[in-house]
Amino acid sequence: MAEPAASLTKSNGQDGRPRHVAIIMDGNGRWAQNKGWPRLVGHRRGAERVKQIVRACPDLGVNWLTVYAFSTENWKRSTEEVLGLMKIFARYIEREADGLSAEGVRMRFIGGRERLDAKLQRLMAGIEARTAVNSRLNLTVAINYGGRDELTRAAERLAGRIARGEIENPTEADLESCLDTAGHPDPDLVIRTSGETRTSNFLPWQAAYSEYEFTPTLWPDFTPEHLAEILDRFGLRERRFGGA
Ligand code: IPE
Ligand code: IPE
Ligand code: MG
Repeated sequence: MAEPAASLTKSNGQDGRPRHVAIIMDGNGRWAQNKGWPRLVGHRRGAERVKQIVRACPDLGVNWLTVYAFSTENWKRSTEEVLGLMKIFARYIEREADGLSAEGVRMRFIGGRERLDAKLQRLMAGIEARTAVNSRLNLTVAINYGGRDELTRAAERLAGRIARGEIENPTEADLESCLDTAGHPDPDLVIRTSGETRTSNFLPWQAAYSEYEFTPTLWPDFTPEHLAEILDRFGLRERRFGGA
């Protein structure tokens, strides 16, 4: 019998609270456009929200927070919007580094890095190294992330290990160990803001048994109070993982 992925045997968080929350932060563009402002204003406001949510997580019992910041499909947007977003990511890392370190946040990134500019890549590696000892909150930011891209890269790594004779009959755990999220627990809960009810290539492997919450609130309007309310509701859910 095939060995189950380690992730499916992991616990569901304590006291019915999700330990790992993942968020598809959607609706920045519409938020700005509704006010007659450029889309980038919405992205800047969205980044401010990330700071607040990050600060709120530990007190809400959330130990892992994964946020979708830029997908492999988002390169289709205008050059102005893409470059503006990249600047926002770089500035977030530069300005938040001290605060995140002081607050015990460990920051990591998932997604393909080679397409990002060299300065941003340096900032990402720098803050990962600087915060590596922290554990109060594990913050993972998905930049140039796509689940299909991640699985394709993972398949390539796995094939390499098989070719080198390190693995004979690959298991789910072997593939999992080749993902960008190797060693991270699976998300218990995935939240998407802005009323869209699709997953848009976010964590297809990791969220196989996650609970989902879709809220009409646009990301720049999403507050720690909204998050707290969703987390309370999560406690009422029964997760069965295929059991009877
Ligand atoms: C989410 O907001 C942020 C990114 C995808 C980078 P959007 O920019 O997708 O906002 P809407 O969906 O157009 O309102
Ligand atoms: C998903 O939002 C990606 C991020 C939030 C970073 P999109 O706005 O790109 O998704 P679609 O295009 O509506 O599916
Ligand atoms: Mg969107």
